Amino acid sequence: MYDELLKRPIIPVIVIDREEDAEPLAEALLAGGLDIIEVTFRTPAAAGAIKRVHRAFPEMLLGAGTLLSAEMAERAIEAGVSFGLAPGLNPKVASYFQSCGGLFVPGVMTPSEIEQGLELGCRLQKFFPAGEAGGPAMLKALAGPYASQGVRFCPTGGVNLTNMRSYLELPIVASIGGSWLATRQQIADGEWAAITRQAKEAMALARR
Ligand code: 3PG
Repeated sequence: MYDELLKRPIIPVIVIDREEDAEPLAEALLAGGLDIIEVTFRTPAAAGAIKRVHRAFPEMLLGAGTLLSAEMAERAIEAGVSFGLAPGLNPKVASYFQSCGGLFVPGVMTPSEIEQGLELGCRLQKFFPAGEAGGPAMLKALAGPYASQGVRFCPTGGVNLTNMRSYLELPIVASIGGSWLATRQQIADGEWAAITRQAKEAMALARR
């Protein structure tokens, strides 16, 4: 799963209010070249949406976000995800994922958290909230001591079409995540063509 994640430069961060929007959303992202999705556990529809994507689009790399407890991790795994993310580093979530053979990407923003993540075997870490935590300059500084430790980052929080290249150009950055690719409002309004267009725009920039 780690290698599969490293092949994807962009992770759309999804907040979904109606689980029946899951299939058209996944279809729109796939049409835009994104075969990965992070469905955040911020709404009651999250687990149902994950189940629907798992059933209808097995080709989609399916993850859950905002996993704040082992109980949430369990629900995410049950729904069918193969990876999970969180804004923070909860060892219980990490060990639950690892016991199920899933990959957990903990949220970090300091050297000590990076080291705790490495201790837990998490080589891919979410740098969150990336903009507020110092952006590309901070990641460049963190690469000094930590690049040789094999850790890679997925910055999210304030990442968008305008600044994504400045993150992706750093070797320590594996991918970026963002909610702008398919906003909560766009999903609620069924703006599938706009979501496909945004995904295409971002993928074109990522590949440059
Ligand atoms: C996340 O959980 O990764 C963030 O909410 C995404 O941040 P963004 O909305 O600034 O893209």
